[in-house]
Amino acid sequence: MKTITSFEQYKADYKKSIEDPETFWTDIANDFLWKQKWTKTLEWNFDSPEVKWFIDGKFNITENAIDRHLATKADKTAFIWEANDENHLPRKITYQNLHDEVCKIANTLKSLGINKGDRVCIYMPMIPEAVFAMLACARIGAVHSVVFAGFSASALAGRIQDSDCKIVLTTDGAYRGAKDIVIKALVDEALEICPSVQKVLVYKHTHSAINIIEGRDVIWQDVVPNALSVCEAELMDSEDVLFILYTSGSTGKPKGVVHTCGGYMVYTCYTFQNVFQMDSSVSSLPEGEMPKAERELFWCTADVGWITGHSYIAYGPLLAGASSILFEGVPTFPDAGRFWKVIDKHKVTHFYTAPTAIRALEAQGLDFVKPYKLDTLKVLGSVGEPINEEAWQWYHKNIGKEKCPIVDTWWQTETGGILISSLAGVTPSKPSFATLPMPGIQPLLVDEKGNEILGNNVEGNLCIKFPWPSMIRTTYGDHNRCKQEYFSTYKGLYFTGDGCRRDENGFYRITGRVDDVMNISGHRIGTAEVESAINMHIDVVESAVVGYPHDIKGQGIYAFVIVPSTTKNHDSLRQEIIAEVNKIIGPIAKPDKIQIVTGLPKTRSGKIMRRILRKVAEGDVSDLGDTSTLLDPSVVDEIVNGKI
Ligand code: WTA
Repeated sequence: MKTITSFEQYKADYKKSIEDPETFWTDIANDFLWKQKWTKTLEWNFDSPEVKWFIDGKFNITENAIDRHLATKADKTAFIWEANDENHLPRKITYQNLHDEVCKIANTLKSLGINKGDRVCIYMPMIPEAVFAMLACARIGAVHSVVFAGFSASALAGRIQDSDCKIVLTTDGAYRGAKDIVIKALVDEALEICPSVQKVLVYKHTHSAINIIEGRDVIWQDVVPNALSVCEAELMDSEDVLFILYTSGSTGKPKGVVHTCGGYMVYTCYTFQNVFQMDSSVSSLPEGEMPKAERELFWCTADVGWITGHSYIAYGPLLAGASSILFEGVPTFPDAGRFWKVIDKHKVTHFYTAPTAIRALEAQGLDFVKPYKLDTLKVLGSVGEPINEEAWQWYHKNIGKEKCPIVDTWWQTETGGILISSLAGVTPSKPSFATLPMPGIQPLLVDEKGNEILGNNVEGNLCIKFPWPSMIRTTYGDHNRCKQEYFSTYKGLYFTGDGCRRDENGFYRITGRVDDVMNISGHRIGTAEVESAINMHIDVVESAVVGYPHDIKGQGIYAFVIVPSTTKNHDSLRQEIIAEVNKIIGPIAKPDKIQIVTGLPKTRSGKIMRRILRKVAEGDVSDLGDTSTLLDPSVVDEIVNGKI
């Protein structure tokens, strides 16, 4: 695929993509391996909504991500796996190894009764087998639903039930920093209420003791190595489902965002190549000293449990034939220099991480950065939340040594790939601005009523007015929810849920969510989800949760909780509430602050005025706005006085 190499070319391609999107995307899609060409490029309406790309096209994404590269890149590194324990030898996986492993798992899945269209839950830590498993599903046309291994048994169960998964792929345990984490026991607990699951395939990773349920549980190492390392790829239609990924919305229940094969393949590869500007053409990654220009290595530090891991660890880089790092550990183990050490160790050239990690490492001081050269780096990336100017500058100066362009990539689980970002070193960048839309992306800002805000130097809610190939197709099992969440707020537009500013040059800066979704350390968590978990505690009468600015996490979780006056020991209650949230969602949703209150600011119609709670949580109580419509304005004073 030809990539954009100058700002002029970007402008010309952008123009073409808007004037004639179908020809634009046809040219790009032609670079892939199709068994049958599509008959029509696009059909869409944002009312139903219904979006179809590359209609009647037949192919398999794994043949594009793996087999297609084997003629020239069989020995090229697909992944270098860096374990949590830095003394563990890295594992190198070539494209040929990847092919063989994926086929073996695909054959195993078939032998366990998995067919095209069946849903497969993957609940695994960051080991290569997690990515192999995703691709194995795609190989046979099964639909993967990866659940981040930090979610609790109850959150896992909800996701398995929602899409009736037939099998769960998991491990015995996981390593996270200094901790050993239980995984299989959580699966066992979840499956007590998941009758759809017939089999569990367990990869022995930590070799910790696990329970085995006869007839249901199968040990990976007992079957996968014996399976055949060739497996014919299932012929898939462009609009067949590739995967489901659950994400938080404004209601309590996470929704299963559905992505389909064709558009997702084309868009993730296109954006990977253009945004990061990696040279993936080299046929193999040599072991010894090679001129730097001939050896490029990508590292996206996300977990495969999130969309970033799907699009820019698994699919995008492999479709492009690139080499990547797959990292099991955490940025602060054994110390806060781990990222930088791994960059030097493996000579990483392109590094993609989240602002929360940058801020956390910045807070540890430069002593953890200084021992490392970081001279192989060429491009830095940021994703997941707005990157504040200070973190941007720190990243630019201390990691990029002022010579690496930073791509601030804005996108969402629903968008499948990056929508707004600079192209590394090719288009202009500006600290804390995602900058310009990718070719094919037509953003617009609207006011509360949905009127388009034209011109520059303006702020509004960010919408997209034309389909792009990797956009959400539906929410699993409930199409109406997809319509309500994304296509009903503003008629005829896809609404992102984000607020946004467009500066005098037309550069976009995403300012954060404007709905009831928080962004905690780059992870989306709905306030309603946390509230319903808190409300499960027997002593909780009612709760309201809001996000507040947090130095490291971007946003922290602030919970206002009503308990009966008879509950006296508030400190232990707070601990119990945190434990409840851990149990129901997982540690990522744990409230940072819990304020016990006797009432919540409600309107006469019973709606909680979150605006007021947000102000209190932010510590900005000088102007709480109009409180006259409240049922009982006096609760506001109590809440302000009791602020933590
Ligand atoms: C936020 C992650 C500002 C945004 C890929 C979005 C960002 C939500 C950026 C999606 C960025 C993501 N600048 N905000 N570069 N990237 N966001 O679905 O609020 O986990 O709506 O996808 O993260 O989070 P999600």
